[in-house]
Amino acid sequence: MSTKAYIASTGSYLPDYVLTNVEIATLVDTSDEWILGRCGVKERRILKDKDKASAYMAKMAAEKAIHKAGVNVNEIDVVIVSTATPEHQFPATSGIVAEMLGIKNAWCFDCMAACSGFLFALNTGAKLIESGSYKTILLIGSDKMSSIMDFTNRNTCVLFGDGAGAVILRSTNSENGIQKSVLRTDGSGYLNLFQKAGGSLFPATIESVQNKEHTISMSGQTVFKTAVTKISESCLELLEQSKLSKAEIDYLIPHQANKRIITAVAELLELPEEKVSVNIDKYGNTTCASIPICLDEWSGKFKNGDNIIICAFGAGFSWGSLHLKWHHPD
Ligand code: UT7
Repeated sequence: MSTKAYIASTGSYLPDYVLTNVEIATLVDTSDEWILGRCGVKERRILKDKDKASAYMAKMAAEKAIHKAGVNVNEIDVVIVSTATPEHQFPATSGIVAEMLGIKNAWCFDCMAACSGFLFALNTGAKLIESGSYKTILLIGSDKMSSIMDFTNRNTCVLFGDGAGAVILRSTNSENGIQKSVLRTDGSGYLNLFQKAGGSLFPATIESVQNKEHTISMSGQTVFKTAVTKISESCLELLEQSKLSKAEIDYLIPHQANKRIITAVAELLELPEEKVSVNIDKYGNTTCASIPICLDEWSGKFKNGDNIIICAFGAGFSWGSLHLKWHHPD
């Protein structure tokens, strides 16, 4: 009998402060109409507290997932945090979150794959469980995108928001759970979406701060076109591998980067609106958090055996899709 990983519970956290398009239009030359029409965003959440960041939001989301699963923190074997805005350059944010949660018996690491981070972490967690070595894994996506947003650059500041989502992965002998995945990276595209300074190539200098090189740099159109092409390719390859027809898909949980990207993928997969999770209107692009937040908001709809496709595209370039058969243990 083979071991599979399934999502035993979900949790999410969104900061209280709502930054509307109307307020953004007081900061840069834009409008509610442009942002909604081109991106699908109405508002986003911003973590205003200066002393709180990705680890805090991760903890808040994780507490809910842990509580819902009825897991004792001592049972958690591994903690993986996916984030593009870690608490510090090092050490890993996951260890800081584990400490906040009182998790003492786990090993912890971060998964850095920008907007594909949670998807890559989900696949990694599933493989660790399938190995038979681990039974309970805490997976978190958390990003304080406002910490790297340039609120004078209309090309990027309208898109992103802060938030966190978490899931508990557990092992099962059922046929349900995480099935197949198609994940890819093409490093040749990395300059199209990156934070230039702050790493070992361009450590912080007075000039790097003055030139705003610690904020998001993005060639929007290239990212947009590549995202649609690559997510579409990976979803079709995944359906073939999983021997699944488009009609058999019950739900699509896409990364929330732009409503037009989501619509293009939904059309390709011939999915009606009610099967496609969308919350970009409320939260913008929360990077690693978008998929687990969607899972948390939609998991109440899922029935045992439902076919769920999760897909993402992000900086790197990194992208992919994953087939999950929802599992409700008896
Ligand atoms: O998770 C992965 C991360 N990111 C993404 O997936 C983002 C992918 N890219 C996108 O979503 C889109 O490319 C954007 C939303 C960023 C931009 O939309 P676009 O349709 O590609 O616009 P564009 O860059 O081609 O710009 C069209 C026009 C330009 O004006 P002109 O040259 O035609 O006069 C821009 O200057 O829109 C202008 N523009 C804006 N106008 C009002 C760009 N940003 C704004 C803005 N408000 N915020």
